Amino acid sequence: MTQTMTQSASKVEREAARRRTFAIISHPDAGKTTLTENMLSAAGAIRLAGAVRARGEQRRTRSDWMKIERERGISVSASVMTFEHRDCMFNLLDTPGHEDFSEDTYRTVTAADAAIMVLDAARGIEPQTLKLFEVCRLRGIPILTFINKMDREAEDIFALLDQIQDQLALDASPQQWPAGSGARFAGVRELRGEDFLIYPRAQDDDAPKRERIAFDDAQLSEFIEPDTLMQLREESEIALEGYPEFDRQAFLDGDMTPVYFGSALRKFGINQLLDALAEYSPPPAPVETESGETVAPGDDEVSGFVFKVQANMDPNHRDRVAFMRLCSGEFKRGMKLRTATSARQITVSSPILFFAQDREIVDEAYAGDVIGVPNHGVLRVGDSLSENGKLRFVGIPNFAPEILRRARTKDPLKAKHLRKALESLAEEGVTQLFKPALGAELIVGAVGPLQIDVMAERIEAEYGLEVVFEQPAYTTARWLGGAEADIENFLDRNKSQAAEDLDGSPVYLAKNAWEISYAEEKFPKITFLKAKERVL
Ligand code: G4P
Repeated sequence: MTQTMTQSASKVEREAARRRTFAIISHPDAGKTTLTENMLSAAGAIRLAGAVRARGEQRRTRSDWMKIERERGISVSASVMTFEHRDCMFNLLDTPGHEDFSEDTYRTVTAADAAIMVLDAARGIEPQTLKLFEVCRLRGIPILTFINKMDREAEDIFALLDQIQDQLALDASPQQWPAGSGARFAGVRELRGEDFLIYPRAQDDDAPKRERIAFDDAQLSEFIEPDTLMQLREESEIALEGYPEFDRQAFLDGDMTPVYFGSALRKFGINQLLDALAEYSPPPAPVETESGETVAPGDDEVSGFVFKVQANMDPNHRDRVAFMRLCSGEFKRGMKLRTATSARQITVSSPILFFAQDREIVDEAYAGDVIGVPNHGVLRVGDSLSENGKLRFVGIPNFAPEILRRARTKDPLKAKHLRKALESLAEEGVTQLFKPALGAELIVGAVGPLQIDVMAERIEAEYGLEVVFEQPAYTTARWLGGAEADIENFLDRNKSQAAEDLDGSPVYLAKNAWEISYAEEKFPKITFLKAKERVL
């Protein structure tokens, strides 16, 4: 147990304290999937490596439920994986890699307490790394860095660490220093320990494998080429002098990142990363509610919030699964929970825990855990759930879409069906739906173009409708803030551009950014919001 807990702590507190709920962020191809797979296998997890995303031929048959994922070779839907390592229970929230899904990613990050940032050692920080990092920074979650693919020729390590400092304004604290890279890669020196961790390829195939050796052991030179060893001695001494020591508080505040090195593909460095995650990343923290109360993980009352809804995960069941992150209490199967918005009661009789692509029914869960709640559309992204139905957590935002499309079916008689399909996809939180005040057309909003393609594909596959998306007269949308009378007055005078979102919140559809500035000037009492923070 890494977290000190007094004997008197309740079971609920102890269980919550050993949860580590985290996400992995990376630019596509940096190795997130490989790391995930091998983390699961290193942790002796439930499923063998390869289950996360079946590769090649297997991928086509086994993996996912959508053609678009296969065609484009990307993983559109996020999933959750649970595994145990040492005394900790890890919940890994998989974030979609494609840039169009940043909103989805953002929501996933709202459910994580920490993140691992994976960098390709030859490429350093890439555009998507930066975007995802910003998402983490907004949420203020701590980040561990894993520099991957050390078995390939890497960029200069000092330069990589400089990138972290300069581009992310984050203090890098290397916990290890690599000996060479590519064909010369021999392992890593622990900077806060005494040992050198030996990369297996640096050893004779027939000799029994050694995992570590003291850095001052004379035999060290058997595992590292002389030049590489000299370079390692020099560089690691400079690193020990030049980089700040790890400061847990600075890490928890999001100001410092501990840096680890390895090869996800060769399963090197993964255990150290898991150990660091267990030791340094925070257990679930108390969460604030709208009324200013604080819900602590050890509280008796069971509570949580929905950060993602996914439909048709299993083609054999046309159900939906709401992903709920628990915030407090001891959840038991069969429990009744109420939503804060609709005060509807839900009996959670088959809560699901996710193991890679498989699901299993869980009997109990604690703060930090993510459980899937099958339902028929009752639960929405952003719903707060609790036993008494009174807790409302704050803060899952919607973002102003960067792409708007008018949706229609080829068959006009199917308009009603289309409305239902669009509504239900918007309820999942994948895309947004705006209903203009005038006319019957429906405007779909997305953060990126791929979401529109995914949507068309799903509407066809799941609802049997052929949908056409067209460019409407507007290109952007803003939620409106201000006094009710002022908003009404504004909408009245801009009827042709007035709309409401799925929750009935007023929205202004604008032709361009200039039009928004103009409206801002003319209606100073109205605020035009780029993000709508839903009260849960
Ligand atoms: P992603 O989820 O971040 O997009 O990356 P993914 O794990 O799919 O890895 C991208 C590519 O990089 C894969 O190769 C993978 O095998 C390779 N890779 C991941 N980690 C390492 C590593 O530590 N060392 C080396 N040398 N390669 C690594 P691919 O050829 O694109 O795919 P595949 O044919 O292996 O599936």
